[in-house]
Amino acid sequence: MKKRNVILCAALTGLSLSATAQKMNITRVGDTTIVKIDKSPKFLILPVQEDKDEAQVKLDEGKPTDTWMYIRLAQDKTDYYVPFKLNMGKTSVIKILNLKSDALTLKEGEMKLSNVWDVTNTDFYRPSYHHTPSYGWMNDPNGMFYKDGVYHLCYQYNPYGSKWGNMHWGHAVSRDLVHWEEVNPTIARDPMGHIFSGSAVIDTDGTAGYGKNTIVALYTSASDENGQIQCMAYSTDGGYTFHKYEKNPVLTPFDGLKDFRDPKVFWYAPLKKWYMIVSADKEMRFYSSPNLKDWTYVSAFGEGYGVQPNQFECPDFFELPVDGDTNKKKWVMIVNINPGCLFGGSATEYFVGDFDGNNFVFDSKPSVAKFLDYGKDHYATVTFSGVKDRVLGIAWMSNWQYANVTPIRQYRGANTLPREFKLFTGKDGEIYMSSNVAPEVGLLRRNSNSLPDLLISHEKDVANVSSNKENAFELEMNVMPGQATKTGIILYNNKGEKVDIYFDMKKGRLIMDRTESGKVNFGEQAEPHNIEKEFDLHEHPEIKEPFRKLNSVNYKNDFALGTWAPLTLCDADTYHLDIFVDKCSIEIFVNGGRIAMTNLVFPTQPYTSIKFYSDGNKTAFKNIKVSELGL
Ligand code: FRU
Repeated sequence: MKKRNVILCAALTGLSLSATAQKMNITRVGDTTIVKIDKSPKFLILPVQEDKDEAQVKLDEGKPTDTWMYIRLAQDKTDYYVPFKLNMGKTSVIKILNLKSDALTLKEGEMKLSNVWDVTNTDFYRPSYHHTPSYGWMNDPNGMFYKDGVYHLCYQYNPYGSKWGNMHWGHAVSRDLVHWEEVNPTIARDPMGHIFSGSAVIDTDGTAGYGKNTIVALYTSASDENGQIQCMAYSTDGGYTFHKYEKNPVLTPFDGLKDFRDPKVFWYAPLKKWYMIVSADKEMRFYSSPNLKDWTYVSAFGEGYGVQPNQFECPDFFELPVDGDTNKKKWVMIVNINPGCLFGGSATEYFVGDFDGNNFVFDSKPSVAKFLDYGKDHYATVTFSGVKDRVLGIAWMSNWQYANVTPIRQYRGANTLPREFKLFTGKDGEIYMSSNVAPEVGLLRRNSNSLPDLLISHEKDVANVSSNKENAFELEMNVMPGQATKTGIILYNNKGEKVDIYFDMKKGRLIMDRTESGKVNFGEQAEPHNIEKEFDLHEHPEIKEPFRKLNSVNYKNDFALGTWAPLTLCDADTYHLDIFVDKCSIEIFVNGGRIAMTNLVFPTQPYTSIKFYSDGNKTAFKNIKVSELGL
């Protein structure tokens, strides 16, 4: 085997190295490293060191579309590898900037040539039944649509490392919303900028001029040079490959706004026009178009509404019947806010109202804030277009406060289970949106075990209810708190790591406490601080209880905390809990999604046992069922 320093010499002098059958010739001209490979295989495998600065890497084909990708190339230690696509069968010239000549990457055997890229899972915390990319970073779901029996899920994706960067639209497809197959990214970062979030529609009548049933995607191109501008791409092969519109951008902000992104497009049948909603700093702007290319400003909504003042992102907009009555429909605007979560960081808020093609009018007082999920790891919720009979959404299961530093390596970022949204009238007369797990998730159920009903006044341990090594199960039950002021369940493992899910009947809250759930102190951002500061409550006294404080829940840092939801959203004194555990996440649905709560957890061993407890008499836990889940 050659010695490392010999290789460095080779790198500097341009000697040929033959690590595989193909030759890799590395030279350095000034600060630029040039890697030349004749008869290239499929990939150059690059070593990554996560805490280092980004080097710039480009496949130089002498074309205007050649794009610099920003990759944290290894300097003195390799955390993991990423594949970089070459000009297969031909000569590939790769240029690298911002990499020191003595960096580990340039030493022998670190960069490898290969025709295969192994995606066998290497992460302990990879969920077993939630959608994750096989490698790389993922945030928001994007451009989701349903056509010809296939659900298409694109997502903010970095193929060159497990931290945010190089935004592409990654792509996965499914026939049943639970089995996802990863396909090639549909839209790649280009010299104009990152491909930020956006949406896709089926252009049934071919209004954009590319034929009937073309898939048209609208996304934000983001760069320091051009700012955030809206671009269009179309697909004539059912959404697998996209062509970027040659006259992009199709929309720029009229006031030079810096934060102007995440276009949501929909067809508004009464006026036979396309509409696009763009998040514009602290409001949402509506535009309309006959052809998805020429856009005219219509109106804006949001400034001064809901949780303020926070950055609005990733809008969605759709109509739903209220209480199942198709004669009474309302429009819902989804607004993802960051920060603005009751528990710090990112959250999904929504507004219910009316839309006439000109203005969206919110039904409630501006200070009314409604949240779609009461956990801390539920962001960038958007819905599928092309689904006729229901509204289906997916959210990214993380929080910008710590998304980049979770204890995961090969990939970072998972999506929530698919959810179905419905409107219901709450006890206070307000219209709320429920978010329940989509029925297709039932396909994941393997063995189900029923436990005997319990009537308790103290506590009862049921050990080893789940033996699933993947920590992948569903737990259902009906809880009748009786005279308890505090009752609930604790999921725990042999190491004493636990998640406490309980009802605080005095305060009327459902709480999930993850302070001792396993790994909770990771990342530089995990600093003890004051939740009120994050939420800026002092400036917003109009935000009323129960949205005010976390008083009753331990609060240690951005991750080690409890989250809670108001029980006033529920319609009965019996609470049906449907809890999904999957390796590093817990999703709770109460009474058909009137409450949804999504939180990440990082136990070092699966939770296998349950403690049922109550501080009062006559608490009943009935119809308890544990189902192993798997694909
Ligand atoms: C939301 C977001 C979007 C943006 C994208 C970039 O999480 O900030 O507003 O388009 O992520 O990856």
